[in-house]
Amino acid sequence: MRAISVLTFAVAAAARALAVHPNRLNHAHLPLFERQESTTLTLDGIIAATPSVSAVTVTPSLAPPPSVLPKPPSSPPAAAPAPTPTPLDTSISSSLSHECMTYLTNLISNSTFLSCLPFSLLLQTSNSYRTQITNARSSGNYSYLNELVAYAASPAPGSETCDQTFAGFAETMRDRTNCGSDLNSGMPVARQARRGLSNYAAVRTAAGLVNPDTGSYCYLEAAASERPDDAYLWQLPMGNILPSTSIPTCSKCSALVMNHWGTWSTNTTTLNGTMINSAASTINAKCGANFVSVTVQTDGSSASRPRSDLLLPLVVFAPLLTWVLA
Ligand SMILES: *[C@@H]1O[C@H](CO)[C@@H](O)[C@H](O)[C@H]1NC(C)=O
Ligand SMILES: *[C@@H]1O[C@H](CO)[C@@H](O)[C@H](O)[C@H]1NC(C)=O
Ligand SMILES: *[C@@H]1O[C@H](CO)[C@@H](O)[C@H](O)[C@H]1NC(C)=O
Ligand SMILES: *[C@@H]1O[C@H](CO)[C@@H](O)[C@H](O)[C@H]1NC(C)=O
Repeated sequence: MRAISVLTFAVAAAARALAVHPNRLNHAHLPLFERQESTTLTLDGIIAATPSVSAVTVTPSLAPPPSVLPKPPSSPPAAAPAPTPTPLDTSISSSLSHECMTYLTNLISNSTFLSCLPFSLLLQTSNSYRTQITNARSSGNYSYLNELVAYAASPAPGSETCDQTFAGFAETMRDRTNCGSDLNSGMPVARQARRGLSNYAAVRTAAGLVNPDTGSYCYLEAAASERPDDAYLWQLPMGNILPSTSIPTCSKCSALVMNHWGTWSTNTTTLNGTMINSAASTINAKCGANFVSVTVQTDGSSASRPRSDLLLPLVVFAPLLTWVLA
């Protein structure tokens, strides 16, 4: 029997990692997503990462084996399951400019924004989503999450409408009259919100990926996994680099998800060839030379190069995989 002992270790706090200059974050600059109560990131938290963690605790999941995880519904749900988690649901930062605060406040009450259910933002900026992951992992009941993923992949307003609407949000957010100055000054909260708007379509379509061997959503399998490795792949578009010590499961999903990011990196500012190729070589080192066959341009002329205002955080996750196996 394999037991995974709880392990705790320091990780560059993601909140700090989100800041190019870690010392700019202090209590006077409480970021929007700063969790004030706890500084422990569980595996649930890696899957639904929040940026202010300084330690990682990996707890075993009660997940059923992949063969008994729920399968996607035969048609997309007409509505997201209740309670529907809310993106950007933590405290609003007093360090955001008044304009940016107003913009984000209006955004999160916009009905199109909500009904398009941005999975990209749920993965990073939603405490209510994180709670649902924790519930699923501790109960072993993934029905809710399955419905949520199905809806997020195919939201009611229509995929095309939502993709276009979010591309529009990503643009308007940059306006000087909205969050332009916050983005230019590197405000982590603003950057993270913008990243989630920019990669809406890439992450929405990834949510719909299904493992052909099991018939379940790839995301669900990663969320239910005892190991964080596959869940890390879901963090790539958020700028979290795959730890070189990562040991992915080598399931078809590892390849599907990577190939997906590779394809989308040409038109998604938060993905770039360097990070994808590096993740692909980490995976191929474990799974076989041609397991992931993505080849992405890494030179400066690549359209995948992020804008300077989107330079993403470097999270030092390498120590995460100090597994204790018995
Ligand atoms: C929500 O945002 C969209 C896109 O910007 C806009 O067309 C729509 O009017 C907004 N809805 C509300 C209720 O403000
Ligand atoms: C799993 O959770 C759903 C609600 O999300 C509930 O309807 C269902 O009864 C639960 N299944 C089991 C076996 O507890
Ligand atoms: C690619 O993304 C990573 C992670 O966000 C970043 O550290 C790196 O600088 C980016 N590379 C290029 C060439 O933009
Ligand atoms: C971005 O790239 C993906 C993958 O190639 C493609 O399916 C999608 O339509 C593209 N989106 C836009 C807006 O070009």
